[in-house]
Amino acid sequence: MQLVFFGAPGAGKGTIAKKLFEKYKIPQISTGDLFRANIKNETELGKKVKSILDNGQLVPDEVTIAMVNDRIKDDDCKNGYILDGFPRTIVQAEAFEKTNPIDAAVYFDITDDEVKGRLGGRRVCSGCGAIYHIKNNPPKQDGICDKCGKELLIRPDDAVEAIEKRLVVYHEQTEPLIGFYKNINKMITIDASLAPEKVVEQIEKQIKL
Ligand code: AP5
Ligand code: MG
Repeated sequence: MQLVFFGAPGAGKGTIAKKLFEKYKIPQISTGDLFRANIKNETELGKKVKSILDNGQLVPDEVTIAMVNDRIKDDDCKNGYILDGFPRTIVQAEAFEKTNPIDAAVYFDITDDEVKGRLGGRRVCSGCGAIYHIKNNPPKQDGICDKCGKELLIRPDDAVEAIEKRLVVYHEQTEPLIGFYKNINKMITIDASLAPEKVVEQIEKQIKL
């Protein structure tokens, strides 16, 4: 099963992909996480993309497409994957559909106001990447991951100005994917404003995982 998760920043793509991995063992490929790992490890790619991510802009298509094509060659992707945050432009979607046609694209439908509240309260584990929210899904101990005990951090692009920029970029460059996937009959829409369990249920109802 090859799935794409797309939708506004903070719509819950990462949260739901992790839940589906736990339940169905479908690997999550988050382009954002891959870029952040490169930044943390100070690789050449990481140095190139750091300021782009911090400013909420998109990494050039060719760099992103090459990174994803490389990642899906790994053994764990043999039986499928969830692409979380890729494609994010029509150029990426067209290129990927030619080489690796997907089964379905899940569109996480949510308002800008809702995502602002989510991103403003997000905390991410510096060790295992688990995702928390100070109100919706708080850790048992303030600032510490329940799963691995490491420190929870605020993503640099969750600063107020960066969130605004990411939303503009999303509406301009990623929202057109709705039309793209509708045209090829691969679009599934879910109400991403509901609780995580309800979001998972909606996906399970529409796709046989
Ligand atoms: P990326 O890391 O993909 O960021 P994003 O798309 O902006 O999405 P987020 O990760 O912020 O949100 P999410 O939908 O995963 O929500 P989450 O589950 O964390 O990309 C970062 C950057 O990398 C981009 O800006 C760009 O520079 C670059 N990049 C990445 N892909 C690229 C590409 N294809 N092309 C070019 N550049 C690319 O949840 C958010 C919060 O809400 C959490 O606190 C969570 O606890 C809470 N929450 C989640 N679900 C629920 C729910 N159902 N109810 C209540 N709270 C919830
Ligand atoms: Mg994410």
